[in-house]
Order: sequence, then C-alpha cells, then structure tokens
Amino acid sequence: MKSEVKLNKAKWLVEPGCVVLVTSGTLANPNVMTFSWQTPVNSADPCLIVLAISHIRYSYDLIKQSNELVINVPGEELLEQTHFVGTITGKDIDKFKESGLTAVPAKIVAPPLIEQCAAHLECRVVEIFKMQSHDLLVCEVLRAEADTEMFDGKWIPEKFHTLHYLSGNYYGVMERTIQAQGK
Ligand SMILES: Cc1cc2nc3c(=O)[nH]c(=O)nc-3n(C[C@H](O)[C@H](O)[C@H](O)COP(=O)(O)O)c2cc1C
Repeated sequence: MKSEVKLNKAKWLVEPGCVVLVTSGTLANPNVMTFSWQTPVNSADPCLIVLAISHIRYSYDLIKQSNELVINVPGEELLEQTHFVGTITGKDIDKFKESGLTAVPAKIVAPPLIEQCAAHLECRVVEIFKMQSHDLLVCEVLRAEADTEMFDGKWIPEKFHTLHYLSGNYYGVMERTIQAQGK
C-alpha cells in the first residue's frame, strides 16, 4: 500500500547527496553552515555545484561579500558538530569555537577549510538564480582535495561514512558499496 505524501513533506522523498559544511568569511573571521540541498550540475570541466541557500542565512551575507566559499565533507563522527552548526546562526557567535571545528587556510580562496572534514572543494560563486525561499548559487570548484584513505575516485564506505539528511535531527549514513553487474 502507498499513501499520499503532503507536498510540504515531498522534498524528503528525494533527499539529495551527502550533507556538507560550507565555510564563508575569512580565516580570521570564519563562519560555517550545514547544507543538504546541494548537487553537481556539470559533468565535465568546470566542476559546477549548485547550493540552495535561504535568503536569511548569515552565511549568504558573507558569501555575497567575496563570492567565495568552501564545501567541506564531514563524516559520521562529525554528526553532532554538523547538526549544531546547522541549527544556530553565526551572526553573534563563533561557531568554530563553540563546535570545536578547526579552521585551516585554503590554498586559493579566503574562507577556511575545516580540518576534521575528509574533503574540501574551494569554490567561486559564478551565478545566482533567485528563487522563492532559497536562491541557487552556482559554484565553480577551483580546487578539490580528499583524504586518500577514504576516497579513491568514489567514497569507500568501509572507511568513511557520509551523512545524509532525513529530516528533523535524523541522518542516514552511507555504510556499504554494492556493484551492479551491467557496464
Ligand atoms: C542537516 C541540515 C541541512 C541543512 N541544509 C540547508 C540547505 O541546504 N540550505 C539552507 O539554506 N539551509 C540549510 N540548513 C540550515 C542552515 O544550516 C542553518 O540555518 C544555519 O544555522 C545557518 O547558519 P548561518 O546563519 O550562520 O549562516 C540545514 C540545516 C541542517 C541541520
């Protein structure tokens, strides 16, 4: 049996890729927020990733100042920090200090990397599409790096578990690989 899902809940049926932590600002004055609405939108060079950001986020103010941000990929062990920085604004507090996350310099852009994350994508915002509650930021990835123990062209779920947002304070974790027989 299947029952109707209210339209304001339908987004949870297609919850997208892994949860990411986006840093903005500078190494001296950084901010960080959690995103689940993210998706790659170009299959070749350049690598383009779209983030859907609410108009009211403090991070959005910071991103608009420099058009730079870093997408950091947290694992299961950062669950509490990931949820914390996604439920409180950095407008009046230092979320790095409060969460214990560590800001380290990026190579190309002003916002920092998060040392405890397994991968980092340094980005420039190249286009913004105005939407209703959220805007779509088209981010060009200028440089990316990942922990070689955990990523060999794909995440290795035996070594690293990405987080996937399910709603409220529930998350799923990517725990195993299965391989299709077809090519
Ligand atoms: C798991 C999770 C996913 C989230 N995904 C998004 C998202 O995709 N876009 C968005 O605008 N806010 C998202 N949020 C909410 C922001 O992370 C949250 O409002 C944050 O406190 C904003 O911080 P800031 O005010 O310091 O920018 C998410 C929160 C959580 C917990």
